[in-house]
Amino acid sequence: MKTIDTIRQRAPHLQPRIAVVLGSGWGSLTDHLTNAIQIPYPELAGFPQAGVAGHGGILWLGNLGAQPVAVLSGRQHGYETGAVDGMAEPLRVLKNLGCHTLVQTNAAGSLRPDMPPQSLMLLSDHINLPQRSPLVGSTGSERFVNMVDAYDPALRAHARQVAQAQGATLFEGVYAWAFGPQFETPAEIRMLRLQGADAVGMSTVPETILARHLGLRVLALSFITNLGAGMSPEKLSHAHTLQQAQLGSLAASRLLADIVASIDTPS
Ligand code: HPA
Repeated sequence: MKTIDTIRQRAPHLQPRIAVVLGSGWGSLTDHLTNAIQIPYPELAGFPQAGVAGHGGILWLGNLGAQPVAVLSGRQHGYETGAVDGMAEPLRVLKNLGCHTLVQTNAAGSLRPDMPPQSLMLLSDHINLPQRSPLVGSTGSERFVNMVDAYDPALRAHARQVAQAQGATLFEGVYAWAFGPQFETPAEIRMLRLQGADAVGMSTVPETILARHLGLRVLALSFITNLGAGMSPEKLSHAHTLQQAQLGSLAASRLLADIVASIDTPS
């Protein structure tokens, strides 16, 4: 059976409008879902077998408030296989199911001393540091995707408004994609700061490119788990990332749930 038909069969009454990708620290978003249906990735042809501890590998379908959503718990990272198009098929399927917007989340290191661990940062733009693209090999003029305002200005304004209403502080800045899986060197962190990045992480950028290629609007949020290498005495590790992400998970997910629930349908 085609993947889209499997999803339609399992969630016949739900037509998702917004796709949400959950990164480290954002897992408790699914606590806010009502009428939730779970489909493990192994049952969905073309979906990745998520391999990183802390990433579930489950497609959730349900509602956030009145908003019908598809939540991708678990993404494939470039550093797992070297390929950067691991999320191409899931995003294509969700677009064909009716999604008009992609909301991405991730964990990231801060490059700004005034943006400490536990902060939330809205992505205003990104730097594709590895200069890798999930669109290599695709044909047609649509592959030459315009990346100006890749992170939709109206959705960002909406997110700021919801954060303000909640009394939550929301930073906004440029996310640099580092290929990983190793963390950056202190010299790389100094370089990234000079280049105008505010946060660094190992995901999100390929999916933003894929989503813009599909014509989806994109909003993305980083949960800051640490200051960049060399900016503080703490020792970076994946366990440290997950532990920090766990600490702020509830507040981050509450904000995300409110933001997604009130996103409008594009005209
Ligand atoms: N660097 C890259 N990726 C990350 C970091 C970091 O410091 N923190 C969380 N994800």
